[in-house]
Amino acid sequence: MVKNDRANFGSKLGVILASAGSAVGLGNIWRFPYETGNHGGAAFILIYLGCVLILGLPVMIAEFLIGRSSQANTAGAYRNLAPGTHWRWIGRLGVLTGFLILGYYSVVAGWTLEYIGEAVTNGFVGKDAEGFKSAFNQFAANPWRPMLWMILFMLATHFVIVRGVEKGIERSSKIMMPALFIIVLILVVCSVSLPGAEAGIEFLLKPDFSKVDANVFLGAMGQAFFSLSLGMGCLCTYASYFSKQTNLTRTALSVGVIDTIVAILAGFIIFPAAFSVGISPDAGPSLVFITLPNVFQQAFSGIPLLAYLFSVMFYVLLAMAALTSTISMHEVSTAYLHEEFNLSRKKAARIVTLGCIFLGIFCSLSWGALKGYTLFGMTIFDLFDYVTAKIMLPVGGFFISIFTGWYLDRKIVWAEITNNGSLRVPVYKLIIFILRFIAPISIALIFINELGLFKLL
Ligand code: PFF
Repeated sequence: MVKNDRANFGSKLGVILASAGSAVGLGNIWRFPYETGNHGGAAFILIYLGCVLILGLPVMIAEFLIGRSSQANTAGAYRNLAPGTHWRWIGRLGVLTGFLILGYYSVVAGWTLEYIGEAVTNGFVGKDAEGFKSAFNQFAANPWRPMLWMILFMLATHFVIVRGVEKGIERSSKIMMPALFIIVLILVVCSVSLPGAEAGIEFLLKPDFSKVDANVFLGAMGQAFFSLSLGMGCLCTYASYFSKQTNLTRTALSVGVIDTIVAILAGFIIFPAAFSVGISPDAGPSLVFITLPNVFQQAFSGIPLLAYLFSVMFYVLLAMAALTSTISMHEVSTAYLHEEFNLSRKKAARIVTLGCIFLGIFCSLSWGALKGYTLFGMTIFDLFDYVTAKIMLPVGGFFISIFTGWYLDRKIVWAEITNNGSLRVPVYKLIIFILRFIAPISIALIFINELGLFKLL
């Protein structure tokens, strides 16, 4: 089944930057800081690091080996490796999950463009906390503006995807990821040198274990999966473009380290600045779009140029991080349609883009005109978020571990992890043990917790 004409990433650096581009996104800069804020700072970070190391990395290696050994999109991967079985549904579930996440993720990604515009045109100046709140609410409820930004964001994603794996995904990651790193570093330096920033730094470095309960562990595991793009075949699809020489274990380690560093540095941008002006970071979308613009204005009130540059750079950073992630989600569905239905890549991409815009319109309108339309008490946007992140990703991750740990021929697993015996991987046995036992059991616990079953019990 191995097709030799399959697209490939052109270099080792391209492999790492594209995969890290998928991982680094709104999950790092928006979700991680507020989860940290909610769960007591440094203690949460320590537990999160543990989750990345002992759960995230093995599951990432599993996705990598499934993708590379099958040389196919995620649905085709399971069909190739387990022909005639129901495992192909795991791949299909991944395609659907990516498509649905893209539907609402692109709405938030679109907001970042509005905020770049606001920052560039000095729109934050002179607003107080109430002003930022009503500005955001008015904008999000507007029927046209957020929708147009979302469509523009999807078109940018589409533009990269149709250029292909090497010229589109790899090249854009090679430009955006280093730029993103530079912006992150500049923002960290500015933020930690603010007067009164020490309280924020202490919050990030001094663990307060009194806040640690089962919820913190489970929250950290969920965050690790979302942030590392695991559970929906995204990194499996990317790995189908890896060369046979790519060291899967080392690549997973690099992606995990980059993703974690960016998440922690995002904390070092947000907390010192917020603490320095005495604003406690709220949860949810409000942190990045309501609290932060206010924090930036207040923190640099003495130096308006710095407030201006800081705000512009922050939203550019957010948009770039989101773009490298939307590209990866788009690729999952595009590769699926392209390979499974024999459509040209262009046509497949067009269908995915139009489909996501269609979903995005509903998700966008659910902040305004469709706000009253709820299911289980959730708006369309919240429902998409809930169903994908809290149900579909954990289910996907669970089955990926079971598939690799229990079903897949051990010879294939060994050949992929050690590149046919040419690499020495001292942690090989540990990876297998985690995939067989630790990962499925822990994921099952996250799943049960997130559905609220513990509370019911
Ligand atoms: N990892 C991305 C982030 O942190 O924003 C989100 C994501 C991308 C989730 C790709 C899942 C995925 F397949």
